[in-house]
Amino acid sequence: MPWSVWHWVLLFAPAEGLIREFYTTNAACRQQYCINPVYPGLQDLPRLEKKRWAKIGLLNVSKSMDFCNATIDYNVALPMSGKNTSKAFIQELVQKQEQEAVQTYFIHLSAMGIEPWDHFRPFEDSSFQLRSCARAVARMACYTYFPAAIHNVPDGAEVRYHRPCDTGCESYIQACGVECCDESTVCAWNAPPTAALPMFQAEVADGDDPSCCPDKKANLTETSSPSSAPRHTQDADGHDITLLSGYAKASDGLCTGR
Ligand SMILES: *[C@@H]1O[C@H](CO)[C@@H](O)[C@H](O)[C@H]1NC(C)=O
Ligand SMILES: *[C@@H]1O[C@H](CO)[C@@H](O)[C@H](O)[C@H]1NC(C)=O
Ligand SMILES: *[C@@H]1O[C@H](CO)[C@@H](O)[C@H](O)[C@H]1NC(C)=O
Ligand SMILES: *[C@@H]1O[C@H](CO)[C@@H](O)[C@H](O)[C@H]1NC(C)=O
Repeated sequence: MPWSVWHWVLLFAPAEGLIREFYTTNAACRQQYCINPVYPGLQDLPRLEKKRWAKIGLLNVSKSMDFCNATIDYNVALPMSGKNTSKAFIQELVQKQEQEAVQTYFIHLSAMGIEPWDHFRPFEDSSFQLRSCARAVARMACYTYFPAAIHNVPDGAEVRYHRPCDTGCESYIQACGVECCDESTVCAWNAPPTAALPMFQAEVADGDDPSCCPDKKANLTETSSPSSAPRHTQDADGHDITLLSGYAKASDGLCTGR
């Protein structure tokens, strides 16, 4: 087995320190699981997109995969620029991506206030109530760090990074019951490159009851529709990240997951 409990413990230990700085919750109104970043791994999409990726067939990665193995059923792309497709090298790359997925999973569940150790193996059946939510978080994490190689090209050929599908994001919102007061829970958005700097969370105006969301039915954002506002978050080092676009529309057929 490539992974043991102790790998996980070691992995999780450094991550825990990140939670407080990295994830902030909006205390301004009553929301559920409305954390920043609102989706697991969202802050990494721009960084991942800038890397160079090469296709590796499913059968050549599944032997090295543990955590994500149950949900990765497609040919993947791995971040590699060279032509080294040796077994040992692929295995290293798979483990590195999986490590990022596992960290994202643990950090995200912790930030939601869900005990990640209750969901140590999210794809196995369990009587824990939040199992389907934990599973949806795991799926989003795995899809983010193991993008699909969609086109039929040989192993080692360079391919694009394909963002996770909006459908996986919507399943997450539904399985976990994520609610935000603002436009955060839109999965597919596209802002014009000239969009003004974003507001991640709507401010509650003076005089509003701070324990409640502003009335969603009121015309909250008269100037921009929820699907055209950029999102604003931070990476693990506290750098601001602006996301002009969100998850890819599954209907376009060029995205990762289901
Ligand atoms: C796995 O890798 C080998 C050697 O790198 C390659 O010949 C083979 O086509 C790959 N198999 C799949 C299913 O991608
Ligand atoms: C991952 O799943 C595949 C297919 O279900 C299986 O053949 C493979 O052994 C699994 N990998 C590990 C490390 O368990
Ligand atoms: C490929 O990577 C493996 C593992 O890092 C290394 O041992 C091997 O020498 C590399 N092969 C080439 C041709 O660079
Ligand atoms: C927003 O305002 C427009 C016109 O100002 C109105 O037609 C529309 O019904 C409003 N939407 C909501 C959700 O209240």
